[in-house]
Amino acid sequence: MLITGSNGLLGQKLVNLFTKNNFNVIATSKGNDRNVTNNKYEYYNVNITKFDKVTNLIKKIKPDFIIHTAAMTNVDSCELRRFECKQINLDAVINIATICKELNIHLIHISTDFVFNGETGYYKETDKTDPVNYYGVTKLKSEQHLINSTIDYTILRTIILYGITENSSRSNIVLWVKKSLEANKTINVVTDQYRMPTYVDDLAQACLLAVNKKAKGIFHISSNQLLSIYEIAIEVAKAYHLNVDLIKPILTEKLNQKAVRPKKTGFIIDKAVKELGFKSVNFTERLQIFKQEMKK
Ligand SMILES: NC(=O)c1ccc[n+]([C@@H]2O[C@H](COP(=O)([O-])OP(=O)(O)OC[C@H]3O[C@@H](n4cnc5c(N)ncnc54)[C@H](OP(=O)(O)O)[C@@H]3O)[C@@H](O)[C@H]2O)c1
Repeated sequence: MLITGSNGLLGQKLVNLFTKNNFNVIATSKGNDRNVTNNKYEYYNVNITKFDKVTNLIKKIKPDFIIHTAAMTNVDSCELRRFECKQINLDAVINIATICKELNIHLIHISTDFVFNGETGYYKETDKTDPVNYYGVTKLKSEQHLINSTIDYTILRTIILYGITENSSRSNIVLWVKKSLEANKTINVVTDQYRMPTYVDDLAQACLLAVNKKAKGIFHISSNQLLSIYEIAIEVAKAYHLNVDLIKPILTEKLNQKAVRPKKTGFIIDKAVKELGFKSVNFTERLQIFKQEMKK
């Protein structure tokens, strides 16, 4: 099992989950290994856009599966640095898919709700895609490349991930709200974008289910609760008994973000529940589990 982006939020969870399930795990990411408490895997730092190096690594390992999580995930940076975004989010996937074909490797690729335009919401896997920003364009093109290839692929699309890992390089909605309110800081949070926030451990479990079942095709993986980002922040404040008055409602247009955001995404996750055995979970309840995990 080769896991790319192993330093990231999902990547670290995957490394820990798959080693716990006795997979022989090889992990790779760009920087030095940040998952320091688990020593049951080999680590290689490789820039995913150095195609020769990636090819050599995969040919040396010859994994049965690759879970590809490495990506440029900051959507505003993707808008500003399009060349880099395309190299990481699309060209690297094309390169990996080429080696998967040659060596008959099953590729699990992580994608996003941002392949949709957000005009209707509650998307199912077969709904029309129409990204509204460059990050979404590159993620959609990478999906299309796999769909048009002849390799074994699984595409797991997900929606704003939250969770905690060691030495995280970036925050997420739950940690940001918690940290800001604990510091008594006022935060402006949009009321006109709707999402189904996903606990990263649930997505990692979905990857394990997909691998064990050798499931193929596209699956939507998220919680089952559609909330505005503002409502998400309120739920976090309530869960941690923090001051909700510090959360100020704002409209997206006032933020002047570089990348356009889809207004209302959210998934219909019935296919994952039925075919993968994925457990449908509620964001508010999951937050309580997350709280317990943070205390460990
Ligand atoms: N986070 C979300 O809310 C969200 C929502 C929908 C979909 N997704 C998708 O889910 C996947 C995982 O997201 P995540 O939140 O776990 O991402 P993340 O925490 O930002 O981690 C991504 C990892 O990719 C690695 N990476 C970036 N550029 C690289 C490069 N040039 N070469 C090698 N490695 C590189 C980074 O490694 P280093 O740290 O070593 O630099 C980073 O740890 C991504 O495909 C993302 O598009 C995420």
